[in-house]
Amino acid sequence: MTGHAAADLTSGGARLPGDGVASPLSGKDLAASIRAEVAAMVAQGPAPKLAIVTATADEASAWYVRSLARAAGKVGITCEVVDLGPHADAATITATLVALGTDPGTHGVILQTPLPAGVSAREVALAIEPARDVDGANPVSLGRLATGLPAYAPATAEAVVALLDHHGIALAGKEVVVVGRSTVVGKPLAHLLLDRDATVTVCHSRTVNLPAVTRRADILVVAVGRAGLVTADHVAPGAVVIDVGTHPTADGGLVGDVDAGSVAAVAGALSPVPGGVGPVTTALLLRHTLDAARA
Ligand SMILES: NC(=O)c1ccc[n+]([C@@H]2O[C@H](COP(=O)([O-])OP(=O)(O)OC[C@H]3O[C@@H](n4cnc5c(N)ncnc54)[C@H](OP(=O)(O)O)[C@@H]3O)[C@@H](O)[C@H]2O)c1
Repeated sequence: MTGHAAADLTSGGARLPGDGVASPLSGKDLAASIRAEVAAMVAQGPAPKLAIVTATADEASAWYVRSLARAAGKVGITCEVVDLGPHADAATITATLVALGTDPGTHGVILQTPLPAGVSAREVALAIEPARDVDGANPVSLGRLATGLPAYAPATAEAVVALLDHHGIALAGKEVVVVGRSTVVGKPLAHLLLDRDATVTVCHSRTVNLPAVTRRADILVVAVGRAGLVTADHVAPGAVVIDVGTHPTADGGLVGDVDAGSVAAVAGALSPVPGGVGPVTTALLLRHTLDAARA
């Protein structure tokens, strides 16, 4: 599908068959415009500060934190990485989060995962001050989101909706299937989609006959953490597919949870990895930090 099916999805009609070349749903332009907006706002007042708490020796996590800190610096947001080391216990992590929740110089707080073995991310995330919980990690934020109270949504979940909006893909009345039910992506995303009047199905590892369920989707969002799990067989012709997955490859590249090669021939539109959900997620974390500072 190219422009024809995309137009059809925006107007609320039935899907059109894919024409063998899915439109790429890039997140780069949207991310750039969010970053520019944030930079312009930051320039008008005191610099917001984001604190990222880490407690891991994981290299992929360290790479992500460095890139987030760089992105923050570029828009004028100060970023402090509080590295507690891979052996930090729950009490130390909790005390650090509590202190950052009252520190007058800090506005946004992110708890980076993975955490040391035996430390429950959900338990310690309860110590993040909800008004500074810019990646929606505190279970209180998820509860607020689910009940329609103001809260920061996890940036990745919000990025999926922002990407669909940016490309003019309507959600109301659409059959949306989300594969993955994590508290970081799948569950908050289901709430955001329900708020937009989509009809939402959430799949997981115990879903029976996954391809039969995912083929019902007008819009299929994949966040399973398994490279290339979703193939052409899972996708209805002309459907919109959003790939949340990120997997580093041996040659330094990145692939998603969707087998892009086969799915692009069936789907109407497909978000690329890299360059789809990822840059929008980072940009939204910066926007949330600005919002927290100005609140
Ligand atoms: N682009 C970004 O900004 C960004 C941000 C966060 C995460 N990610 C990526 O998104 C992906 C998902 O992350 P996550 O944190 O949500 O992962 P997660 O916590 O591991 O959750 C994975 C979910 O997928 C389900 N699942 C696993 N195998 C399945 C299968 N064969 N069939 C159906 N469902 C299956 C699991 O089901 P059960 O619940 O039954 O176990 C679980 O609900 C990862 O690749 C991650 O790197 C990207």
